[in-house]
Amino acid sequence: MAAIEEKRTTTHINVGTALKRFTMLGFMVLTIVTIWIHEAYFFRGPSPQLDRLMPIMSILAPHIATGAIALLLGPLQFSTTLRRKSLTLHRWLGRTYMAAVLISSILALYITVTFEAPSARWVMGTMAALWLITTIFAWAAAASRNIPQHKLWISRSYLFTFTFTTTRFAIDVIWPGIDGEGVTNFYWVLNIACLVIPDFVMWANAAWMRRR
Ligand code: HEM
Repeated sequence: MAAIEEKRTTTHINVGTALKRFTMLGFMVLTIVTIWIHEAYFFRGPSPQLDRLMPIMSILAPHIATGAIALLLGPLQFSTTLRRKSLTLHRWLGRTYMAAVLISSILALYITVTFEAPSARWVMGTMAALWLITTIFAWAAAASRNIPQHKLWISRSYLFTFTFTTTRFAIDVIWPGIDGEGVTNFYWVLNIACLVIPDFVMWANAAWMRRR
């Protein structure tokens, strides 16, 4: 009986781990493609796109740097192997992620309110605010050792971090030529998706565990 239980757990861990690794790999590939397609102008020298951002460069540069740290640290933090090997490392990388999001999201909020077109302010502002709020909730849950809530909120937080990729990839690759209203609608859907998807994944995971 114990042997059967152990086999079930091992199979679940293998499937779960494989799915998680596959998802993280997918996230990384999408991000690299996005940087390649959307951000190439940053490395090509002067251009009208870059000129447009020059007035806010002193705020944009730290937003980008800290956003990139959060984007890179996310996959490491979701690794069960790494967490099991060193909880101390997980905690320090977690603190770095939180600090990076705190800075990047507040700057994103500021850029949105002062620089973006008025029609984009509500949806982008909500996105930046939810990025900050979900990260604070994840930290509060970790601090109070509420691990299920920590997992839920940190997954939401990382999906907001990942909007760097989803917003650009969808618009450049899936719907090139989409108009401003379409972009706004897509961003609202994305805001809701970032909040709801982790609930759905956790519910599906629990249901799958019960069936086995
Ligand atoms: C909820 C998350 C985020 C929000 C709301 C947000 C908001 C913004 C806003 C309003 C701008 C100015 C866009 C423009 O008018 O061109 C911007 C630019 C930028 N942000 Fe973020 N940001 C977020 C996450 C991130 C992350 C995680 C990164 C990772 C590096 C990042 C990197 C950039 C870059 C590279 C730009 C320059 C514009 C471009 O080339 O696309 N952002 N962001």
